[in-house]
Formats: sequence, C-alpha cells, structure tokens
Amino acid sequence: MSEEMKKLEARCALCGSCPLGATRTKLVFGVGRAPSELMLIGEGPGEQEDLQGEPFVGPAGKLLDDMLEMIGLDRTRIYIANTVKCRPPMNRDPAQEEMAACRHWLDEQIALVRPKIIVCLGRIAAGELIKKDFRITREHGQWFDVNGIKTMAIYHPSALLRDVSKRPETFADLRELRRVLRRDTALYEG
Ligand code: URA
Repeated sequence: MSEEMKKLEARCALCGSCPLGATRTKLVFGVGRAPSELMLIGEGPGEQEDLQGEPFVGPAGKLLDDMLEMIGLDRTRIYIANTVKCRPPMNRDPAQEEMAACRHWLDEQIALVRPKIIVCLGRIAAGELIKKDFRITREHGQWFDVNGIKTMAIYHPSALLRDVSKRPETFADLRELRRVLRRDTALYEG
C-alpha cells in the first residue's frame, strides 16, 4: 500500500466524527493495492472485520473472494473499502449521518486509488455512491458515470448467501464487469 494511504489510515484511526468509533474494536480502513484500476466498495464492517481490522474477511468475504476468482482476480490486485470504516453495532445499516461523516475518508481513498472502475457491493453503497434512490433489484449490473468513473452495483455477497436465487444474475453482472475490465484496463495483462 502507498505511503499516502498509510498516512490517511493513520489519520482516520483518530477520527471521532460519529459515534461508531467509540464502539468498534478495530478500524476497518481498506485493503489491497493503491493505485488500482478497480475499487470495490461495501457497506460497513461486520463482526469478523471489526475483530480483524480488514474488510470482507467473514462469510460474505469468503464468497467475495470466490466471485473475484471467477473473473480471474484476487484482493491483492484491487482495492476494497467500505462506506463506513467502523462497525455499526449489531450489524445494523449505517445511518445516513454516519455515512456522511465518513464520506470524506472514502473520497480521499478514491483519490489515491484512482480507479477506472468502481463496483458497489449492495444497495447501501450504491445509494451512497451512485444515487440516493438506487434500486438494486432493477439497476444492478448497469453502468453509471460517477464523477467520470464507470460505476456498477452488484448484489452484496451477504444477500447472495441469504438468497441463492440471486446468484445467476450476479454471475451475469460479473461477466459484464470482466468484459469492461478487459476492454478498459490492464488488469488482466500480467
Ligand atoms: N460487509 C460489508 O459490507 N463490508 C465488509 O467489510 C464486510 C461485510
């Protein structure tokens, strides 16, 4: 990870802008390569992430790793972060004010990662990044321009664990992602 990203993480560790910092175990800032042509953005840390300090290391994370493998990628070649960096108690959705308070950290991460493509994992991240009224059931797999970055949302891996009937649609979205990554990035070139 770049020195700038480490410095940003160190600043974020001291953040007290919302109440989540007081109840978390570890900060879950982000993981992977920066800069990278692909960035994934999830919702917020769960129990395992909070204990280990890394995004997507619990059951949903195992599925995410399998999804990445399906399209020939792994988490060391991309960057993964969340809309909030501290675990919401009892795995509740992050509140609007919490996401708003945390947003500048995400924007600074995006500025350092400089992704060509962003994939939002689930409705909450899509609502924060793409548009407030994002409808995941209707709009997953579609491309949106977010400040010049090609952005798509797919179902959150936790939703795919709960409801396997959503998996075929997600495989189609992943194939579309791979098509565009092959066309627009050098991620598959070694
Ligand atoms: N779910 C998320 O949205 N993010 C994580 O880091 C883990 C589970």
